[in-house]
Amino acid sequence: MRLSLRFIIPLAAILTLMAYGLVPLADELTKQWFIRDLDLRAQLISTTIQEPLAPLIEKNEAHKIKSLFERFTKDERLFALGYCDNTNRLLYKTQTFPAGIECHGTNSARPELLRLKKGAVHVSFRPLQDDFPENGRLIVIHDMSFVEGRSELTRRYIFYLFLILGAVISLVTVFIAQLSWKGWISGIRAILKGEGLVRPLSQAHELKPVLKDVRALVRDLERDRKIRDELQISWSPRTLKELLHNELAGDEILIVSNREPYIHNHKEGKVIVQVPASGLVTALEPIMRACSGTWIAHGSGTADKEAVDENDHVMVPPDKPAYRIRRVWLSREEELGYYYGFANEGLWPLCHIAHTRPIFRTSDWEKYVQVNRKFAEAVVSEAKTEDPVVLVQDYHFALLPRMVREKLPHATIISFWHIPWPNPEAFGICPWREEILEGILGSSILGFHTRFHCNNFLDSVDRFMECRIDRETSTVSLEKKLTAINSYPISIEWPSRWLKGQKPIPDCRKAVRRANDIAPDCKIGIGVDRLDYTKGILERFVTIERLFELFPEWIGKFTFVQIAAPTRSSITQYQSFENQVRALASQINQRFATSSWNPIILKAEHHGSEQIFEYFRASDLCFVSSLHDGMNLVAKEFVSARDDEQGVLVLSQFAGASRELPEAVIVNPYNIDQCAQALAGALNMPEREQRDRMRSMRGLLQEFNIFRWAGRMLIDAARIRQQNRFFGKLRESGLRYFSAEK
Ligand code: G6P
Repeated sequence: MRLSLRFIIPLAAILTLMAYGLVPLADELTKQWFIRDLDLRAQLISTTIQEPLAPLIEKNEAHKIKSLFERFTKDERLFALGYCDNTNRLLYKTQTFPAGIECHGTNSARPELLRLKKGAVHVSFRPLQDDFPENGRLIVIHDMSFVEGRSELTRRYIFYLFLILGAVISLVTVFIAQLSWKGWISGIRAILKGEGLVRPLSQAHELKPVLKDVRALVRDLERDRKIRDELQISWSPRTLKELLHNELAGDEILIVSNREPYIHNHKEGKVIVQVPASGLVTALEPIMRACSGTWIAHGSGTADKEAVDENDHVMVPPDKPAYRIRRVWLSREEELGYYYGFANEGLWPLCHIAHTRPIFRTSDWEKYVQVNRKFAEAVVSEAKTEDPVVLVQDYHFALLPRMVREKLPHATIISFWHIPWPNPEAFGICPWREEILEGILGSSILGFHTRFHCNNFLDSVDRFMECRIDRETSTVSLEKKLTAINSYPISIEWPSRWLKGQKPIPDCRKAVRRANDIAPDCKIGIGVDRLDYTKGILERFVTIERLFELFPEWIGKFTFVQIAAPTRSSITQYQSFENQVRALASQINQRFATSSWNPIILKAEHHGSEQIFEYFRASDLCFVSSLHDGMNLVAKEFVSARDDEQGVLVLSQFAGASRELPEAVIVNPYNIDQCAQALAGALNMPEREQRDRMRSMRGLLQEFNIFRWAGRMLIDAARIRQQNRFFGKLRESGLRYFSAEK
């Protein structure tokens, strides 16, 4: 219908224009040309005839005059001739001379056009020369029927000419409209939807010269949409589920991490299930509950093997199974080389600028490669489709993305690096820096907590790899594969499920005071960390000591509780760090403690989240003094635990969280005096100020929660999948101008 309209409308317009404008105009013009032609002929005839006619008129030789006239009128267009004397008498005329035409016609050169029975005639009255006898005039009558014939012919030609022209213009209009309208719009729509063009390739060629622009447009629209999405969506487990359902309908989700979310351990003759102290686990667990995929992790618990089925699967959480863990078993040598060695003695200190020297051993590296391959094989064997979404977690698996990509080229691999990425100088000391970069660039998306770490990564790639970096779009293209480098600040569940069973704040205070022998008038500070040298625990204790030096009024009135989960205890640095922490705590306690009060209570054992939340709720301040930290979720959890909008967060400027929580009291943990002042300030902070700060931080975390973190990555993954499908279809069709795919 639309097609026929596109044809008929221009044709009808052209025909109307012809009927009312062009044909009459052309007709009139040709007529004028012919009349002017006849005028000239009449003049020529009168000039030519004068000479033979003059003597005959003088002698009055009527017969000869007549035959002279007849001779002239043999010309088919000259219809008749007549001669008038100066008294307007028609003295001589040809036989054809029409009745009704008389000599009183005007003398002017203007001809008369008369319509006679036989048709139209052109009558011209030509005065003869001055010396002509009797001052006579010649009447020259031309037949005009040929003019009408020609005019008719011209009209017909013009009609056909314009008809053909109209048809051609209509066809061209339809053709262009087809190509440009349907082609472009459906092309752009298809790109936006990520679908293939429905038209055959031959018609898609018009996209070729502008494809780059279209891609740029798609990117811009995406950016716009992304911003809108983020503004509009209030993220919750439900929105995450909906997102998975709508954007990644039916797509398989696999998570790979070293640490498993639930560890089965033997304890006192029983099997207990433990949730490890890991920011990564804290963040990913609620997501897996929402999307029920498969989580592939190292089975590190002493009772892990007993809990799995014949495929090494176990459904979790134990009380309400929602997803499954696939456990991967490592030999002692593998664990020593890959986990304790390369990951935690090499990469961990390399990425955290915490002044602990990284150790790189070739034997550790070999185990790291071996275990990465083992996990990659587990991913491939778990994948039921050829294009799953694989979420690779952290520095334990820098090589895995490329290994998986080799086996599952259509997988969407999102790697998230939970720890900082150092600058190229620091990163450059790793003997296998190129292999690590190459491995991780097998990802479709590589995420960091902050833009700063993304930039450090891009700088490292720039320094050590031969590949193309587009800083505007933050992408790296290696061997025609694109990796997008984006920042996704990790967060916590909101509202936290650990808040559910919590007692009111005064009861939490009472419980914590009772359990730790803390007097009711003594304020409480809290620190919760793994016993890791990056967490700044020693600096924290020195700060507390300095507080008592600078502000002795707090002696006996402030206790700092440090919950420190033992971690990576097979590593020498961790062992000596734990010793240092214990020694410093007891040294400070010895210096300031009274019979009823201890400045520091060190609880160096694993605590469950519920218990930790109780401590958060009982405390007046929380001190996070990381020397370098990707994000630090303890800071965010403290805020989420304080639904009373009280309590002060003192936060290291070197933790990623400080970028999102500027309302915290931000400190440099290396500046001990500054930190001591900050603690004193926090202890004296009026309730109103505490409320203002806490309210603002809680507002942010409510919105920027863990579901948003995961949602944003999955939205980006979904877009990449759509785009890849679209470009894949184009490529299948034979177009070859895509330099890179994600
Ligand atoms: C950090 C890392 C995680 C790790 C966690 C606990 O948060 O980013 O990947 O799981 O520490 O360390 P662990 O070695 O006990 O797993």
